[in-house]
Amino acid sequence: MGRKFIVGGNWKMNGTKAQICEILDFLKKGPLNSDTEVVVGAPTIYLQFTQENKPNNVAVAAQNCYKVPKGAFTGEISPAMLKDIGIEWVILGHSERRHIFCESDELIADKVKHALENGLKVIACVGETLDEREAGKTEEVVFRQTQAIKDKITDWNNVVIAYEPVWAIGTGKTATPEQAQEVHQSLRCWFESNVGPDIANCIRIQYGGSVTEKNCKELAGQPDIDGFLVGGASLKPEFVQIVNARG
Ligand code: G3H
Repeated sequence: MGRKFIVGGNWKMNGTKAQICEILDFLKKGPLNSDTEVVVGAPTIYLQFTQENKPNNVAVAAQNCYKVPKGAFTGEISPAMLKDIGIEWVILGHSERRHIFCESDELIADKVKHALENGLKVIACVGETLDEREAGKTEEVVFRQTQAIKDKITDWNNVVIAYEPVWAIGTGKTATPEQAQEVHQSLRCWFESNVGPDIANCIRIQYGGSVTEKNCKELAGQPDIDGFLVGGASLKPEFVQIVNARG
């Protein structure tokens, strides 16, 4: 199938310039598997600094952006601004945006559409809460979140899906490889039925939620896991081992 493994480090609201230099130093030292695409999501204020100091084999993502190019939207940034400073990627729909900042499926889909129209590549996050999983609604939730995006876009070539079960984020409770594979496979089948077999075959689906250097290899061995979106462990040198989980 030839999907290139992609590992994202989502630094969330962490880091100082000094700490970012330390992270960039271990990324420069690597070595990072050249068959793996690596993206780091820096806080907005450090995007340019990260972009200017990163190694060539690492790309930078914003952790959010708004759905219109400019205007009276205090505190927001646009894809056009990100492009202006050379940023290629944006993470959208992260569960912290959905649950802490109450972003709706529709707003996230509008953001994905606008980001793609402006030439950004998008990591679009989906995932169920523990209550939803226990109610047997995992597929219903991730399909609904993905459908909302499908309602607004037709070209999925610059989209990576990150499946992040909310109960696994920052909790140390990783989904088992079987649990993660089950949802990834369901999502791929959803793409096959709702978008088409070509996109289903080539779209990359990352797993996120308490990925560490200890559990990454087994997760990476699952056929429908095409990479990771890593939070806490992306701030530590062990992130290099996660990048190199496959191969
Ligand atoms: O974006 C990353 C995810 O929220 C996972 O975070 O690795 O700290 O659980 P975590």
